Amino acid sequence: MLYGRTTFSKFIIEEQRRMAQPDAQLTALLNDVQTAVKYIASAVAHGALRSAPVAEAAVNVHGEEQKPLDVIANDIVLRSCEWGGQLCGMASEELPDPYPIPPQYPRGRYLLVFDPLDGSSNLDVDVTVGTIFSVLAAPEGVTEPTLTDFLQPGTRQICAGYALYGPAVMLVVTMGRGVHGFTLDPEIGAFTLTHPDMKIPAETREFAINTSNARFWEPPVQRYVDECVKGGSGPRGADFNMRWIASMVAEVHRILVRGGLFMYPKDTKDPAKPGRLRLMYEANPMAMLVEQAGGCASTGRLRLLDVVPQDLHQRVPVILGSKSEVERIERYHREYESGADREFASPLFNVRSLFRAA
Ligand code: AHG
Ligand code: MN
Ligand code: MN
Repeated sequence: MLYGRTTFSKFIIEEQRRMAQPDAQLTALLNDVQTAVKYIASAVAHGALRSAPVAEAAVNVHGEEQKPLDVIANDIVLRSCEWGGQLCGMASEELPDPYPIPPQYPRGRYLLVFDPLDGSSNLDVDVTVGTIFSVLAAPEGVTEPTLTDFLQPGTRQICAGYALYGPAVMLVVTMGRGVHGFTLDPEIGAFTLTHPDMKIPAETREFAINTSNARFWEPPVQRYVDECVKGGSGPRGADFNMRWIASMVAEVHRILVRGGLFMYPKDTKDPAKPGRLRLMYEANPMAMLVEQAGGCASTGRLRLLDVVPQDLHQRVPVILGSKSEVERIERYHREYESGADREFASPLFNVRSLFRAA
């Protein structure tokens, strides 16, 4: 056994000491998030041993089936984080409205926004799932936050992170000074620093997208994926690999470890939904982590962290990962908008054109 390694608790205390304005409330809040994550990890690890059969599937605010573990994980985060006096409100994927801190507890200055269990459609098949969270500050003087107090762009996040319930349980966090990964040591029950200062390589030859939606994508995304699929003999002159886990936490973790690109772009599948993922508790925390690790996160047209939320459960297109690929897709969107990409697609210049050999 190795003594003296940096535990998560030690790291967050020392990180605050390094800050210009140390804040014990943030340390205490992250400690409670850590406790929540350990409870959820334990609940998830019991799998079918503990899940009671459900008579009728519940449905959440998004009209999606709510798994028993979605509800359990949501309760765990609420119970673990409501009592400590660091928060004045929470908001969750599983709750239609913001959650007020019960009156018996003291109020703090922070807001916690979270997806208690991301990728939960994978639970039945025992694939990695996770918890995603984002910490914002309530506006000055606010102790009973309203919905509007939560609607802050991602640039205002103070801290963001995720837990990963995979072969190993991990906690990955940024407080605005790099991204650091901790692995749960099951022997002592402590998260231990194993991935300090994670960095996303700028170049990659790996992408992740649900290609069953290809017919609903916009032309710039179709162009990008077409070029990747054409591989070494196509315009990119290189073979690409594709992955799709259907668990955003697991995809982002892979990208933080070895680079890559993840996309859930805008599509026309359901015109009421400009994307699949939710801005405040999926896209924003992941975008902060990705940027802190040297990557980029975009809607295709706009830096994700600059999007001003209109609604707690707002959906947004997400393109994130290695910088050069995200920038390329942003360029494809600009070229599509200006018509510059059509120049090469026009019949005159196309494969069977007057000017190009077949
Ligand atoms: P959640 O389980 O919290 O509803 O989120 C699932 C998300 C995300 O994890 C994943 O990237 C995506 O939905 C999967 O989408 P598909 O069903 O299109 O594969
Ligand atoms: Mn999710
Ligand atoms: Mn979820």
